[in-house]
Amino acid sequence: MITAEDFDVSAAWHVAAPYDFLRRLRHERPVFRSEHLGAHVLTRYEDVRAAYGDPRRFSSAGSLTISRSLADGTRRVLGEHGSFLSSFVANVDPPVHTRLRRSVSRAFTPRAVAALEQRFRDLNEEVLDRVASRGGGDLVAEIAHIPSIKLTARFIGVPEEDERFVQEHVKDWFQLFLSPQPPQRQLVLAESFLTYLDYVDRLVAARAAEPEDDFVSLMTALIGTELSHREVVELISTILLGGNDTVPNQLGNSVLRLLREGVWPVPPELVRNAVEECMRIDGASLGSFRHTTVDVELHGVTVPAGSLCLLSTDSAAHDETVFDEPERFVIDRGNADAHMTLGYGIHFCVGAALARLQLRTALEVLGRRLPGLRLDPDAPPPAYRTSIVGRGLTALPVRW
Ligand code: HEM
Repeated sequence: MITAEDFDVSAAWHVAAPYDFLRRLRHERPVFRSEHLGAHVLTRYEDVRAAYGDPRRFSSAGSLTISRSLADGTRRVLGEHGSFLSSFVANVDPPVHTRLRRSVSRAFTPRAVAALEQRFRDLNEEVLDRVASRGGGDLVAEIAHIPSIKLTARFIGVPEEDERFVQEHVKDWFQLFLSPQPPQRQLVLAESFLTYLDYVDRLVAARAAEPEDDFVSLMTALIGTELSHREVVELISTILLGGNDTVPNQLGNSVLRLLREGVWPVPPELVRNAVEECMRIDGASLGSFRHTTVDVELHGVTVPAGSLCLLSTDSAAHDETVFDEPERFVIDRGNADAHMTLGYGIHFCVGAALARLQLRTALEVLGRRLPGLRLDPDAPPPAYRTSIVGRGLTALPVRW
């Protein structure tokens, strides 16, 4: 019998199919402390939403990074950069958040986002031109990631010839700051991170001298008035974090779901809602972390001030008090978009419109170019990556 003590978002079974378990928790233990996670977990839709909407009691300050797990030697190497991401937009509260959010939002106007659609469509077509004749492959590695990574690089202003370099170093700093690593490995990652910072500094200097039509130029122009140099460097990194991985993960989860449900290609008039229902039922994010600033009483449990809390959007998206028959995939579900896979409240995903645009475009292009797409019958069941914040497949072998 699985109990609340077994709550471990990084365990394979928990990423793949936690929903019976989460339903029981919503009924029996809506708030509990998970030793695995070192955090309290909120599982009901209503509580998760209320916590997102109450940043004074559920603070974002320092909630995302686990840089506190850095060893002393690594801290020495990093020097002043040891607290990198301390002014990361998702990691701060108002009033700093209000100022940063206002700046970053300037880059995500509806016009700016719409202007990226054709480019993203072309990037998908190019990938498919290369692989279509093969008759099969790994949708995750060979198709899903490439267009999003290239679009993000273009949006930020990373020149094409530097894309690979940036991608390698970004992977390293994600690992260094967002997942615990042994001390020796931390040193290697720290050196890589410093190389990356030098690169971003040079990019900022280049755009300050000669602005272009990209995110780096837009943010660089705000240095000294709205933003500090360090905040600009961290914002650029934020967008890489938000933009590179989440959309491809969501796309992989969505294609797997659609193929299993036998809905392929998705009829064009249903694509918009299918994207929402896929985000609800197989979300690429599992939840958000917060720290309580005061003792919080919830369903008879006292969450002490200073506790780390996971707001489980994964559980909330399957809450039967909001979604009828939540385990059923209903492509035209009326309230599918009530999920909180993109967050809720003041930190609601600033890239949400761009994420939705990419998912819709990718499903349309894939459906048109690969109408016979199906799961590879000879492949083992799909496996998920280990992560405490996200759900993404390691591979998705398909044929077409
Ligand atoms: C399906 C894809 C995506 C998912 C599931 C996702 C999920 C989320 C979630 C749950 C949050 C809230 C974090 C919190 O409250 O602590 C968030 C915030 C954020 N996302 Fe996304 N995201 C996606 C795509 C993107 C893209 C494409 C970008 C940028 C290009 C992006 C940039 C950001 C940024 C900068 C924030 C911080 C906003 C703030 O703190 O005010 N995301 N995202």
